[in-house]
Amino acid sequence: MGSWTLSDKLGRPLKDLRVSVTDRCNFRCVFCMPPGKKINFLARKDLLSYEEIARLVRILTNLGVRKVRITGGEPLVRSHLENLISLLSDIEQLKDIALTTNGYTLAKKAETLKKAGLKRVTVSLPSLKEERFSKIVGREVSLKEVIEGIEESKRVGLDPVKVNAVVIRGLNDDEIMDLVEFGLEKGVSVRFIEFMDVGTLNGWSLEKVVTADEMVEKISKVYDLEDLGRNKGETAYRFRIKGSAIEIGIIASVSKPFCGSCSRLRLSADGKLYTCLFASEGVNVKDLLRGGSDDEAIRDLIVKIWEEREDRYSELRFQMRKERKVEMFRVGG
Ligand code: GTP
Ligand code: 5AD
Ligand code: SF4
Ligand code: SF4
Repeated sequence: MGSWTLSDKLGRPLKDLRVSVTDRCNFRCVFCMPPGKKINFLARKDLLSYEEIARLVRILTNLGVRKVRITGGEPLVRSHLENLISLLSDIEQLKDIALTTNGYTLAKKAETLKKAGLKRVTVSLPSLKEERFSKIVGREVSLKEVIEGIEESKRVGLDPVKVNAVVIRGLNDDEIMDLVEFGLEKGVSVRFIEFMDVGTLNGWSLEKVVTADEMVEKISKVYDLEDLGRNKGETAYRFRIKGSAIEIGIIASVSKPFCGSCSRLRLSADGKLYTCLFASEGVNVKDLLRGGSDDEAIRDLIVKIWEEREDRYSELRFQMRKERKVEMFRVGG
């Protein structure tokens, strides 16, 4: 199969894939899967195998995908994730294999993942205060494990190591400067994420969103920030703290949507393709993978999905009311 350049209805190419390997998680973050909400998790038999995922990724690289980010739920709760990374590492056209994790078991696994071919890692860290951290992640877990996960990732050479902090007004917005300092101390980039109305469970309201402008203003009062802009197809507006190598990122999906250059396709753990984080439903490819379809038939379906794509939810957010939205832990953020 030759290499194609696909374009959706808004002229956007297909470049990145986010793969959710499980919908399960050992945390219950208030902004994603709040405690007490009844969730029907997928059955084991419904999860794509690592071989099935790798086959799909290979087909997708022939359609332009160059970057894969592995997510969940929490991807590290799925056993032997390194086996998937090894399979993906064999795909020559793939230039980047990244992982987004809550970091809880990362210290134990970072070295194995790196050896299998993982290039970089992003760890969610919404608070540096023990008690608050537990409250936000909905589990009596220790922050120490996550911080060790970050340190170990650096030690084994995952590069870059980034930290993601979802910021919610009144919950953790007083920690922005502490998190910046954490980044400087540990030598990691910190990205602040505007709280998004993703899924249906997290009680989102606009009042709880701390905007990018507010965050930048706060940080600029203490540090000189060099504006590096936002790369096409990426989520974060980047700033360098002058006099250091550390970057601060702001992901402003609410106040400054970036749908115009969104080149991302998402694969859920049960083998559905989603063309937007805020989609209502996905297109089943598992049945083709398991039903004996050849690569061409699967490729043709993906071409059709991408060529029909016109999603730009974040740009339309305030004009549309969407009742049905896929949960974040099903499509991996
Ligand atoms: P890099 O490859 O390092 O730039 O990572 P990333 O920002 O693509 O991925 P990450 O998992 O770190 O996601 C950071 C935040 O951006 C999370 O809150 C994601 O849900 C959000 N995000 C990622 N992709 C999209 C997207 O396509 N649309 C929107 N609205 N948010 C996204
Ligand atoms: N808004 C913004 N970001 C979120 N994340 C999870 N839920 C939300 C939300 N409602 C973040 C996690 C993780 C990334 C994949 O998405 O912190 O870092
Ligand atoms: Fe788990 Fe990540 Fe969702 Fe938190 S944000 S509940 S760590 S999947
Ligand atoms: Fe892409 Fe949808 Fe996010 Fe817009 S809202 S950037 S189209 S995933």
